[in-house]
Amino acid sequence: MKKALLTLTALVLLASTASARTWDDIKKSGTIKIATEGAFPPFNLLKGTQLTGFEVDLANALAKQMGLKVQWITQPFDNLLIGLNQDRYDFVIASHGITPERAKAVDFSNPHYCTGGAIVSKPGGPKTAADLKGKAVAVQVGTTYLQNVSKVAGVGSVKTFPKDTDAQAALMAGRVDAWVGDKFTGLDLVKAQKGKVVQGDLLFSERIAMAVKKGNSSLLKELNAELAKAMQNGTYAKISGQYFGQDIRCK
Ligand code: ARG
Repeated sequence: MKKALLTLTALVLLASTASARTWDDIKKSGTIKIATEGAFPPFNLLKGTQLTGFEVDLANALAKQMGLKVQWITQPFDNLLIGLNQDRYDFVIASHGITPERAKAVDFSNPHYCTGGAIVSKPGGPKTAADLKGKAVAVQVGTTYLQNVSKVAGVGSVKTFPKDTDAQAALMAGRVDAWVGDKFTGLDLVKAQKGKVVQGDLLFSERIAMAVKKGNSSLLKELNAELAKAMQNGTYAKISGQYFGQDIRCK
């Protein structure tokens, strides 16, 4: 037992001290490994075997500017930052809001978009934070939606789902009174459901960024430079326009 415990400790130590690939290592290899969830439309979505979405197109464009091939890895949202710290990929782009807690575990790039968490319900349902009093709310696990809904005074119950789309489905099925999710995702849901749901207030605003392993400053610098370039050369505006009909960069 003692021996097994020691081995486990050693493994944890090894994992945490192993180093992430630096920008030089990545450049030499010719391929960058990027992780996302693939279940968060319209930002990252696996359609059959095809990854698409605003963040997928943006990251592919950044890699193209870098002259690199991309190897995409998909992981449940809740595992993404853990895998990053285990060096399973070079960076994560999956709509992570920059929070003080996450910033302790990983390093964030400059934001690639700005957004907020919005309340969505059926007509006549809760539309404001005050309306959530005593109500059941669906959110994706591990998200800033969960964190912020839990802070609402008097909220009835918060039900968590592994995927954001499952939380939306719970609202549609009438199993909860409201869903809190990204405001752009919410607009798409309202459109797709043709008035069966309506978007209410924003509960909070957030800046969304890519994450690298803590301390991987050479890759962070490169990502920030390529993002700035894409924001200047029209690439960012074009991709954003395709998905949202507007430029969603932070102003
Ligand atoms: N923006 C929210 C957060 O920072 C939700 C992100 C969810 N991303 C995803 N790929 N499901 O927690």
